[in-house]
Amino acid sequence: MQPIDRSAIVVRRPSLDLSGEIPRYWNGGDPFATHFLNALSSVFPDGEAFFVRSVQRYRDRIDDPQLRETIRSFAAQEGQHSAQHDRHVRMLLDQGYPGIGRRNALIRRLTRWSVEWMPRHSLAGTAALEHLTALLARKLLESPERWTGQMDPRMARLWQWHALEEAEHKAVAFDVLAQVAPSYPLRVFALVSNTLGLFLEILDRTVYMLWKDGILFRRDVWASGLRFLFGREGLLRGASADYRAWYRRDFHPDDANDAALIAAWRPRVEARVA
Ligand SMILES: [Fe+2]
Ligand SMILES: [Fe+2]
Repeated sequence: MQPIDRSAIVVRRPSLDLSGEIPRYWNGGDPFATHFLNALSSVFPDGEAFFVRSVQRYRDRIDDPQLRETIRSFAAQEGQHSAQHDRHVRMLLDQGYPGIGRRNALIRRLTRWSVEWMPRHSLAGTAALEHLTALLARKLLESPERWTGQMDPRMARLWQWHALEEAEHKAVAFDVLAQVAPSYPLRVFALVSNTLGLFLEILDRTVYMLWKDGILFRRDVWASGLRFLFGREGLLRGASADYRAWYRRDFHPDDANDAALIAAWRPRVEARVA
């Protein structure tokens, strides 16, 4: 396989159609599977703005011109992700989940505070969360039918485009962290704490939306939720080796070579959204 050319992180300005009548349960008609991904999507606008601020704060400490250039492309890609997922958040607000907007306002304040006062932890947290998005992206790009086959096609395009770009820029935050704060304990702490934090945040938002729908205590909803997360075809099944790779001292995001996946998906995504 060809090595990835990091100078070719492509900044796209997609036109995605999220305005039409997207069904409330757009992921296979399944409330849990839909709300879990609604919850994940709803943390992206402020989460990814946090990533950008965390990395850009250290831009002046980077001498390598290629890495400086990838920071710029990374910021531009994440800016587009924030904007497109923000449209999804507005759809959720219109559907009657105002708590998502309140929660995002709180997250916005906390993350701004974190970049200001805990910049090293913010950068390490960004690199760790980028490890999680790269891992999810790889799974989606490897098995699009399993991941997006049941989705409304408009939502499938959103997730496929985002997955491609997460794979393209997966090493940027890590490379900046490796230059400015190459501490192994910091890296380990960042992934442990952010994995737990992100999972609880998403679960909390999922529970809220199921509660608003009046189906929080339905057994079949949770049975299907457990299958969606941990079942044979589940979201988290088969992810543990990729996840644990982070804890190797000599780990680098490019150890998992996504070049072939990226090459296969670029024309497909660009024909459909960019
Ligand atoms: Fe992103
Ligand atoms: Fe990212």
